[in-house]
Amino acid sequence: MLDISQAYRLLNHGPTVLVTTAHRNQRNIMAAAWNMPLDFDPPKIAIVIDKKTYTRELIEASGSFAINVPCRAQAEMVVRVGASSGRELLGKEADNKFAVFDLPTFAASKIAAPLVTGCVAWLECKLIAEPHIQDTYDLFLAEVVAAHADERVFSDGRWHFEGPNGESYDELRTIHHVAGGNFMAIGEAFKA
Ligand SMILES: Cc1cc2nc3c(=O)[nH]c(=O)nc-3n(C[C@H](O)[C@H](O)[C@H](O)COP(=O)(O)O)c2cc1C
Repeated sequence: MLDISQAYRLLNHGPTVLVTTAHRNQRNIMAAAWNMPLDFDPPKIAIVIDKKTYTRELIEASGSFAINVPCRAQAEMVVRVGASSGRELLGKEADNKFAVFDLPTFAASKIAAPLVTGCVAWLECKLIAEPHIQDTYDLFLAEVVAAHADERVFSDGRWHFEGPNGESYDELRTIHHVAGGNFMAIGEAFKA
């Protein structure tokens, strides 16, 4: 587990993320490109969650959610979970997107929402309820209460997509949605 003082570094470059939620026996996942870090200590983030989403209903009911940072290898899945609603699956035999899209998960440490296997970073978030900005701007604020990352590509407080022995982690690069299913994978790391 990372020190949560590093949590903002997991979002600083603006990746498209997956928001996972759980409430009672329901769990869900959606894609979200509009997210950003908001504060260092305690770490906070902001994310836009549209009124029509089932995710929003589960966030408001549970008071928590996880941000999963997916990688290039998961881009097709990101589009699929962002183009279907968990609400439409209720009552069906496979009643959630994890089952429909065959997405393995593991348990978070401080919240009920599942974390998606194969992502490269995870932020466990507790909602800071601000009904006015939620209703007016679809903007949700949250405190990050735990953070984790794949050490192959995030360690010592920075992202690195080339291994120490020349390994290339291109499939683990974070992805950045432009529009209409067009993404960019994160590029070269450099120090200024
Ligand atoms: C790449 C991508 C980025 C998206 N970004 C956002 C976003 O930032 N905020 C949002 O509310 N919806 C966003 N969406 C749309 C939701 O993922 C979509 O409405 C989803 O079906 C909601 O699922 P749910 O009803 O199961 O929660 C995005 C979709 C895609 C494919």
